[in-house]
Amino acid sequence: MIDFIKEKFNEIYSADPDQIYFAPARVNLIGEHIDYNGGLVMPAALETGTYLALKERTDAEMHFYSVNFPDNQFVYNLEDAPFDKNESYWVNYPVGVINALMEKGTSFDKGYDFLYYGNIPNGGGLSSSASIEVVTAYALNHAQLSKVDLALLSQDVENNFVGVNCGIMDQFSVAMGKKDHAIILDCETLEYDYAPFVLSDHQLVIINTNKERKLAESKYNERRATCEESLEILNQQGEEFANLCNIPYSYFEKHQDKLTEEQRKRVKHVITEQARVLKSKEALAKNDILEFGKLMNASHASLKGDYEVTGKELDTVNEESLKLPYVIGCRMTGAGFGGCAIAIVEKGKVDEYKKALEKSYTEIIGYAPTVIEMSIGDGVRVLSS
Ligand code: GLA
Repeated sequence: MIDFIKEKFNEIYSADPDQIYFAPARVNLIGEHIDYNGGLVMPAALETGTYLALKERTDAEMHFYSVNFPDNQFVYNLEDAPFDKNESYWVNYPVGVINALMEKGTSFDKGYDFLYYGNIPNGGGLSSSASIEVVTAYALNHAQLSKVDLALLSQDVENNFVGVNCGIMDQFSVAMGKKDHAIILDCETLEYDYAPFVLSDHQLVIINTNKERKLAESKYNERRATCEESLEILNQQGEEFANLCNIPYSYFEKHQDKLTEEQRKRVKHVITEQARVLKSKEALAKNDILEFGKLMNASHASLKGDYEVTGKELDTVNEESLKLPYVIGCRMTGAGFGGCAIAIVEKGKVDEYKKALEKSYTEIIGYAPTVIEMSIGDGVRVLSS
């Protein structure tokens, strides 16, 4: 891969890069729509992600090129900083990060040539945007910010420059991932721990529904707003909680009649999902993958019935997968509304699974899913000099 990146860099900029960096994509194993509700999530970094080759220039220009979107090259001049948001989407991620780094006191004497290449399934909800943000922040981290601070800076770019009101989970996992481990992250305090995720008899598989995630952002922001309104109402019933994840189920049951039916369902998902993360943590500590699989299935059911973020494609993946005796768990991952699901499949059965799911999904949906074996990798890093 390094040779491929160098070759491309030479093609575009007629020189070798100074350095090549990598930031992974992520999956969330369990704990969905929990980060912005202040609870515990269990994501992991993948081995696919975004490569960034970088070379300092002799002038004040910043040149951006992506192998994935080769039609446009963007050029900015440091004299025009802070940079404005561009119509074209992907370049806003690195440009937003550069603005944010400058705001935090980093000054750039010279510009750079940037070349990006991503092997993350496109539009699959595996956080390609967080991956671009974090790899850029890491590569230009002249102020030696910690990786956690780089994750927070990237989330701020997403919220305030790009305009998506996401939580911290994606940027944190991309920055802090650890090979063969799930991250257990408390999204309120940012305390974290790693749990070994080694599947000796099973394989982690990602299924891209290949459904375009239309309206995903507005529906995402809508879910978030409903959670905020519900917390306010529940906080008027006698006790005050910092976030929905802190609310005991018994308190919710007692006061649920104060919520609308929609609010009630959303809160129920959040509180029960949080309990599932805690149980998953215990199951992983005992290496009880079967139990973990059951919790994944319950998580999907709750995201379908109560949080209503799955849709026909993700539900088809879930239902068709669970008909197969060698699939022990399957759930959507990320924001939902299309995108990807993950499954845990018995080792040696992945090819059979792939064929079976491609057939049934195509019959029901009309086009094929993409089924990929995945391993858990490390967070953002330098690849070579
Ligand atoms: C998206 C957001 C995350 C998180 C998930 C849902 O991936 O970027 O912050 O809220 O959805 O768990």
